[in-house]
Amino acid sequence: MNDEVIKVSSICKSYRDSSSSLEVLKNITFSVSSGEFLVIQGPSGAGKSTLLHILGGLDNPTMGNVYFQGADIYAIDENKRAALRNQKIGFVFQFFHLLPELSALENVLLPGILKSWWERKKSLSKALELLERLGLSSRLKHRPSALSGGEQQRVAIARALINHPQLLLCDEPTGNLDSENGKNILQLLIELNQSQKITIIMVTHDKDLACGAGRTMCLKDGLILHRATERAPAQQS
Ligand SMILES: Nc1ncnc2c1ncn2[C@@H]1O[C@H](COP(=O)(O)OP(=O)(O)O)[C@@H](O)[C@H]1O
Ligand SMILES: [Mg+2]
Repeated sequence: MNDEVIKVSSICKSYRDSSSSLEVLKNITFSVSSGEFLVIQGPSGAGKSTLLHILGGLDNPTMGNVYFQGADIYAIDENKRAALRNQKIGFVFQFFHLLPELSALENVLLPGILKSWWERKKSLSKALELLERLGLSSRLKHRPSALSGGEQQRVAIARALINHPQLLLCDEPTGNLDSENGKNILQLLIELNQSQKITIIMVTHDKDLACGAGRTMCLKDGLILHRATERAPAQQS
């Protein structure tokens, strides 16, 4: 059985303007199995966010393919790709990206807003269950501005989980938090990976942050450098 959730094959990404071209990702190939926690570490500007956006169907690679459960996500049209993102992939960002006018509960319900009445009813009980599990039962009606950074990130994680995604993509999820809250969020992600078997890919510039969370790869100069301790393809180690 193939339990590969995502596979990237020979990904390149360049940004061009009239006078120059910046090659951010150079021939990147790797895959992630169901239930894995992959940490992609690398210095600021290394292309981590660019790679994560490409993995999540948010930004086309210049070359190469991204396969989600075997299907090439850039070979389908934008509407189908948006539906796939909505239903199968959850995103967690450094700056939370919550809507300021909505309450915590409304933010979590947002990805299901276009669903049928019956599905929205199910989403409401799921949202309440998630917010309770993440320790936010007493914050349901609070707007983001009335929540701490750690609480806002937990709301963002609940929102990312509302549609039962098969893959959670996290871009520096602790990057805007103090170290205590950062540790708590990382612990929460590890727990979600272990108890719910959610596949997670997390990028971070912090070398020490995610030691031991799972498999670690390093992105540097547009290339993936595999750690000596993990299963690396022979030609790239
Ligand atoms: N839309 C864009 N246009 C031009 N250059 C970009 C764009 N997005 C990112 N870059 C450049 O690509 C490089 C990698 O950016 P990014 O993926 O955000 O890095 P990281 O997340 O590792 O800090 C940076 O040099 C950045 O300036
Ligand atoms: Mg980034």
